[in-house]
Amino acid sequence: MKVSGLLSSSLLIIASTLAAEWYPLNRQDEIPVGFTPYKRGENVYMDCITRNIDNGEHKFDEQERIIYGPFPICKETSKPLTFKYGISEDFNCTITFTDELYHLFQLYIHEDAPFSCRLPISSDAHYLEKGGAYVPLTFNLRGEIRESHLDIDPTLNVLITKPSNNNEEENTFISAVAFSSGTNATRVVIGDSLTLNVAVRFLDQLVNADSTTNSLDGIPYASGFYKFPINFVPISYTMLYTYLFMTVVGTAVIIFAFTYNLISHKIKKGSKYKPVDSESFGKLD
Ligand SMILES: *[C@@H]1O[C@H](CO)[C@@H](O)[C@H](O)[C@H]1NC(C)=O
Ligand SMILES: *[C@@H]1O[C@H](CO)[C@@H](O)[C@H](O)[C@H]1NC(C)=O
Repeated sequence: MKVSGLLSSSLLIIASTLAAEWYPLNRQDEIPVGFTPYKRGENVYMDCITRNIDNGEHKFDEQERIIYGPFPICKETSKPLTFKYGISEDFNCTITFTDELYHLFQLYIHEDAPFSCRLPISSDAHYLEKGGAYVPLTFNLRGEIRESHLDIDPTLNVLITKPSNNNEEENTFISAVAFSSGTNATRVVIGDSLTLNVAVRFLDQLVNADSTTNSLDGIPYASGFYKFPINFVPISYTMLYTYLFMTVVGTAVIIFAFTYNLISHKIKKGSKYKPVDSESFGKLD
């Protein structure tokens, strides 16, 4: 009895550990329904974990909460890096290496600490300060730590996954990642400026695999694994349709040319081979 009781209670613990729950939750562990959706083109204000430059540890406030701060200022806009909701675009963000930022980048490049930021689920002002839900966005800048300087690959692909039905009520984030994707590194010392070449892509056509929801009751958007297709089309749908159209027209032209050739050839063939046929008939005779 006791053993089976223990067993079933430990099974219960295992079952409850494995039980799935919604991600992301807010600070109160609640599902963030009723968030204010973003409008297309609206500024997304992310913030980033502040760290001690000696050891990369988070900075905490008196309530033991992580202190977040803005992304470094971009010279181009005189503002921290911001995204426009739903807009895929390329832009530059030139940051200046103060003593503190240089030491932080030593930690990031050396992978002692991640360059961790977060995107608020809701577009409400001060949503995150009030304990709102967010998705993490880590900037995986790569490079090398040198004796006297840093080599940094400043090219950044930023992939942002959003609900795929394009229902404006569900304009929020599912996931995001940023990673260096170039072939050159730039040499940086304290006081230098570095231009980050940023390519932001909103992924709004991903199919949510393994979805168990039939309705959105109680959850912000359809559940599931918003998975990249195996045959990924890394171009916009407008471009895809343009290519498809061009292919169709091209194929039609080729088919027409072939058919035309074939028909005219057949006609020629017909007139050419008749005498041969009558010749061979003549030989048989
Ligand atoms: C970004 O800056 C580079 C030079 O570092 C320049 O060649 C490029 O055209 C700029 N790109 C955009 C989108 O402004
Ligand atoms: C990368 O570095 C190579 C070799 O130094 C140079 O030829 C090339 O122009 C650089 N490419 C870019 C995009 O900066």
